[in-house]
Amino acid sequence: MTTAPQTRTARERARARLTEAGVPNVEGDLNALQERFPPDASPHALARFETAVAERCRRIPLGHLIGSVPFDGLELVVGTGVFIPRHESTSVVEWAASTTTLPYGGTALDLCSGVGALGLALSRRRPDVTVTCVERDHTCLQYLARNAARNESVLGPVTVRAADLTEPGCLDAHLGTTDLVMANPPFISPLWRLPPEWSRHQPPTAIYSGADGLHLIRRIIELAITVLRPGGRLAIEHDKAQPPQVNALLHGDLFAEVTTLPDTAGEPRITTARRTPSAHRHTKCA
Ligand SMILES: C[S@@+](CC[C@H](N)C(=O)[O-])C[C@H]1O[C@@H](n2cnc3c(N)ncnc32)[C@H](O)[C@@H]1O
Repeated sequence: MTTAPQTRTARERARARLTEAGVPNVEGDLNALQERFPPDASPHALARFETAVAERCRRIPLGHLIGSVPFDGLELVVGTGVFIPRHESTSVVEWAASTTTLPYGGTALDLCSGVGALGLALSRRRPDVTVTCVERDHTCLQYLARNAARNESVLGPVTVRAADLTEPGCLDAHLGTTDLVMANPPFISPLWRLPPEWSRHQPPTAIYSGADGLHLIRRIIELAITVLRPGGRLAIEHDKAQPPQVNALLHGDLFAEVTTLPDTAGEPRITTARRTPSAHRHTKCA
C-alpha cells in the first residue's frame, strides 16, 4: 500500500510527539489513531488527527479518543467518565463461560459492571444464561444500556440494574439463587503510583477502594455469601499483588476451591471460589 507524503509526515510528527510524551505503545496507538482519524483527506482531516494525537500526548486513554474498544468479540462504546475494559479481563469470561463453572440455563451477576464488558461478553458466549449487570455510576449505566442494546442480537437475556453495592439490601432480589458472581471492582490503593491514563483520566470511583484497595472486594465477598446458591461460583479480579489478601478473605467454611488464575497477560489477577453447600445463610444482605 502506498502512503501519501502528507500522511507520512503527519505520522512521523505524531510518532515523535507520542514518544516524547511517554506513551507506552506508540506504534499501536499511532495505527489506531490513523485508522480512526485518517490525516490524508483534507486540511480538516489533518487537524482532527493532530488534535487526537495532542490529546493522547496529554495521556487521555486511547479508548476515550477512539470511542469504542473491542472486548471478547464485542465492540463496546466507551467515553470520558467511564472505565475502559481491559483485554486481560477476558480470562474471567473464559472461566465463567465454561459449563463446569456455570450450569446450562443458570444465572449470573456481573457486579461493578462498568460499560458491561464481563456481563455482556458472558452473555454472548452463553446466551442460555440470565445475566444481571449491576453498576452504580450514572454515566456508566448509560454506556452499559447502549452496549446491551447495540449487541442485543447476539446476547441472551441481560438486565441492567442501577445499585450501590455498599447499600444494605442491594442484592436482596438474588438471595441464594445465583449460580455465578463475577466482578472486576475498583481495587487500587491511593498510595500506589499509576500511569496518568489511570490516575488522571479514568473515574476515581472505578479505580480506588479504601486505604488498602480492598474495601469493595470485601463487600463483594459478603454479598456473594448471601446471593450464591450452594455450589455457586465467584470470580474476582484484583491486583497482581493482592492474591494473599483475597485468598485470606475467602478462607473459612463458606468457600472452597479458592484458586488464583492468571489473566491473559499471565499475571495472578483473578481469584475464584465455590460457595460451600454447608452452612448456607439465607439472611438478607446487610
Ligand atoms: C474497575 S471498573 C470495572 C468495570 C467493568 N467491570 C470492566 O471490567 O470493564 C469498576 C466499576 O465499579 C463501579 N463501582 C464502584 N463502586 C461501586 C459501588 N459501590 N456499587 C456499584 N458499582 C460500583 C465503578 O463505577 C466502575 O464502573
